[in-house]
Amino acid sequence: MTSTPFGQRVEIGDAADIVTARRAARELCERLGFGKADQTRLATAVSELARNVIQYAGTGHCLIEDGSDALNRRIQVVVEDQGPGIANLEQALTYGYSTSGGLGAGLPGTRRLVDDFQIESAPGLTRISIALNKPF
Ligand SMILES: Nc1ncnc2c1ncn2[C@@H]1O[C@H](COP(=O)(O)OP(=O)(O)OP(=O)(O)O)[C@@H](O)[C@H]1O
Ligand SMILES: [Mg+2]
Repeated sequence: MTSTPFGQRVEIGDAADIVTARRAARELCERLGFGKADQTRLATAVSELARNVIQYAGTGHCLIEDGSDALNRRIQVVVEDQGPGIANLEQALTYGYSTSGGLGAGLPGTRRLVDDFQIESAPGLTRISIALNKPF
């Protein structure tokens, strides 16, 4: 894990990195003044996205950053990999759709947990950006 101007960067390559990313997300969330439920929401979302990176791309990284401004606390996380990309985004966001015999709950569950959710994906770059916001 390395520090960036607004947070942390975690390289994702194995299961231990999921724990590191999850913990870093929870800690920054707490430091920014989010409650326990929000910390858990974000930690769960980050683990699902990191798990997908390992499963479908092998390696990637995650940026966990303070995006607060004068009006809102904001924690934002970008999870990125250079794998094959998500072939069909609409299907991938549907509960039950999995190309690996999984539950197909990771992406739709993550989208439901967070306040902002954006995916860009093409062969060679998948970037999923999520955030939680809370007014001061
Ligand atoms: N980073 C990624 N790169 C390429 N494909 C991905 C990536 N993340 C998700 N996908 C594709 O989107 C599908 C849905 O992902 P999702 O996390 O919702 O379900 P899952 O990983 O199949 O199962 P679960 O997460 O419930 O164990 C995956 O089966 C896979 O085809
Ligand atoms: Mg998954």
